Amino acid sequence: MIGWKGECVNGGVLVRKIALVGLMGVGKSSVGRALSQVFRCSFVDLDNDIEAFANKSIPQIFREDGETAFRTLEHQRLQTLSEVRGDVEMVLATGGGVVESPENRSLLQNEWYTIWLDADVETLAERIQRDSSVRPLLQAYQDLALRQRLRDLYSRRELWYKHVARVRVQVVDLTVDEVVQHLLRLGI
Ligand code: S3P
Repeated sequence: MIGWKGECVNGGVLVRKIALVGLMGVGKSSVGRALSQVFRCSFVDLDNDIEAFANKSIPQIFREDGETAFRTLEHQRLQTLSEVRGDVEMVLATGGGVVESPENRSLLQNEWYTIWLDADVETLAERIQRDSSVRPLLQAYQDLALRQRLRDLYSRRELWYKHVARVRVQVVDLTVDEVVQHLLRLGI
């Protein structure tokens, strides 16, 4: 069961599910929303889904329950969304750390058409500094320390993103629409 283009069939029904992965600040939610509009399908932001499920914001979950509890919730929600069958078509924007878990990596590889949105650390740092979102894993870092933190996360996760993704897109210098057009040209 896989394939946005419907090359495979699950129980006689075409299943089309795209997941976007990549580090914080790379634009997974914006690109995901725009892609879902092009394909006229539903869009789910995994962090928002977790927040609705837990009835708490992501920073609150990290603060009150810790990162391990957040990762458990993240896995539960990804698992649930991966099990959605039938004619449901979906674009999913994941959180940057979804690839930390081997179970999640296996879901992303086997149940989704996964796309890695990639950018260099400097671009990510500039975007993150302009953005007002609270990111628990980056909160304590600024300027040079933020760049070093992102470099560490990048080297830790790079191979995992590569492993789960069928397509990697360099988004530096591209607008959201240009990323979408690029993906469409790739034939996803
Ligand atoms: C995280 C990324 C965040 C969010 C959480 C942890 C990470 O999502 O899931 O703060 O581990 O990289 P975004 O990548 O959407 O910012």
